[in-house]
Amino acid sequence: MSSDKPARRLRSQEWFDNPHNPGMTALYLERYLNFGLTRAELQSGKPIIGIAQTGSDLSPCNRHHLDLAKRVREGIAAAGGIPFEFPVHPIQETGKRPTAALDRNLAYLGLVETLYGYPLDGVVLTTGCDKTTPACIMAAATVNIPAIVLSGGPMLNGWWKGERTGSGTVVWKSREQLAAGEIGYDEFMDIVASSAPSVGHCNTMGTASTMNALAEALGMSLPGCAAIPAPYRERGQISYETGKRIVDMVWEDLKPSDILTREAIENAIIVNSAIGGSTNAQIHIQAIARHAGVPLEVEAWQEIGHKIPLLVNMQPAGKYLGEEFHRAGGVPAVVWELVKAGKIRKALTVNGRTLAENAEGRESIDRDVIFPYEAPLVADAGFIVLKGNLFDSAIMKTSVISDEFRNRYLSNPNDPEAFEGKAVVFDGPEDYHHRIDDPALAIDEHTLLFMRGTGPVGYPGGAEVVNMQPPAALIKRGIHSLPCIGDGRQSGTSGSPSILNASPEAAVGGGLALLRTGDRVRIDLKKGTADILISDEELTARKAALAKDGGYHFPGNQTPWQEIQRMLVDQFDEGMVLKPAVKYQQVAQT
Ligand code: FES
Ligand code: MG
Repeated sequence: MSSDKPARRLRSQEWFDNPHNPGMTALYLERYLNFGLTRAELQSGKPIIGIAQTGSDLSPCNRHHLDLAKRVREGIAAAGGIPFEFPVHPIQETGKRPTAALDRNLAYLGLVETLYGYPLDGVVLTTGCDKTTPACIMAAATVNIPAIVLSGGPMLNGWWKGERTGSGTVVWKSREQLAAGEIGYDEFMDIVASSAPSVGHCNTMGTASTMNALAEALGMSLPGCAAIPAPYRERGQISYETGKRIVDMVWEDLKPSDILTREAIENAIIVNSAIGGSTNAQIHIQAIARHAGVPLEVEAWQEIGHKIPLLVNMQPAGKYLGEEFHRAGGVPAVVWELVKAGKIRKALTVNGRTLAENAEGRESIDRDVIFPYEAPLVADAGFIVLKGNLFDSAIMKTSVISDEFRNRYLSNPNDPEAFEGKAVVFDGPEDYHHRIDDPALAIDEHTLLFMRGTGPVGYPGGAEVVNMQPPAALIKRGIHSLPCIGDGRQSGTSGSPSILNASPEAAVGGGLALLRTGDRVRIDLKKGTADILISDEELTARKAALAKDGGYHFPGNQTPWQEIQRMLVDQFDEGMVLKPAVKYQQVAQT
């Protein structure tokens, strides 16, 4: 601590230097001395800074945070703080069954207890893989001690035979080739592996890159932090700067409640449209808003976000990957375009300046990667919000509507933004895999595929399964996608314009539970409606029949946490938060 810092009694001193209770102070102190810290250090009044470590062998996307933490520690020490690194419950998007989303709230709970219960004055949140970012920010919002996000950064670009292979996106593409018999099993595996050439998180604008970009847009990380590829030297450098900065944030008492305002949340929604961000952002930003005590309605995604154009040419909506995004200027260059267009709200960031001030003059240096606001890649690129007798709300990412999709479903001159079709309904991913190629379903290019039983309760955590591949026979005829609608989620790396996150889900009595294969369904994007075309009498009769049958049936629990989460969890439109958790706000002050 430099001597010009104001002397202020810190939270950690309640543990390590409490003159009213020397007995407890001795107990708190002695064990932290046993690995070499001195009493003089712990009683010096220096800020104790947590490093919330999300990396481990089980979490490869975040694993290099184990190395980056060394630079964070050096930054903390250089600024006069004392680092305490500790583990966060692992969340690995692709490795955790039944789904990593189940563990977001578990990691959140664990981190809340750690930040509340231990002698920490501030915390560096190491983020990367999809749910690690919201879990950490949600916990920081609940506890409300000074907190700063350090993204791990994306992997280097993947390449296969001269083409970029992006995380996840390449899986969705090449599994179609595998289904069509164009490539074999080994080549399929090699293509997919080529997309992961280094340490780091997904290199596409999937949920990981999205949530790290939005953490920056929220003001929770240093400017430029989100996009730096994991192995680049700047990643180590910003780790050091992040460590230095959190110490000053403690002295300035700059807390999440100063940063996570309604304006900051709106900035995140706006930036999400401009980057072509993941549909999972709606769930996670809602969760962050709720834990920060900021009211946010799901309609805000359309009202605030829909008219914002797509500026970032990155897979799955575009062409490039994380390295080009960083070189073109990353999040600050996107924010600068939005600032010039008058779209960015005034909101403070971790460095004490506003988001707009941080972006000042940060022109894109590659106009094929970050487009100008006036000449974007896609106009009106944000989500739209739909409702009807199928659900109270669901979202659709319009920036990924392909020409094939538009020509087939949205080209009726009398009805250009609506389509109708016969529903084929699947109850969970296993049912889908079992039956999709069954000729008896008579799936053709006018069929709408439905997935239910995959929301926060039906499939604990909500499955990323709504983007369903058409039957192999249809793919062979050149039909690569059908409209997909469901109460589950979709991978952020998917380029499908699915209708997702339907709330309430079938498992808690949502309208999807009443749908039957063979029903006709109408989707109207202009009106924002999604309805089963049956009479009110028929709908009422089906509701009664479902109630008599004990409601929609879904598989049982396999672990204690699945049962606990299912009892307490809210729907996607409410951020899939634990309902009792949101009443605990700013708990470090209690
Ligand atoms: Fe971890 Fe994509 S699977 S970042
Ligand atoms: Mg995912």
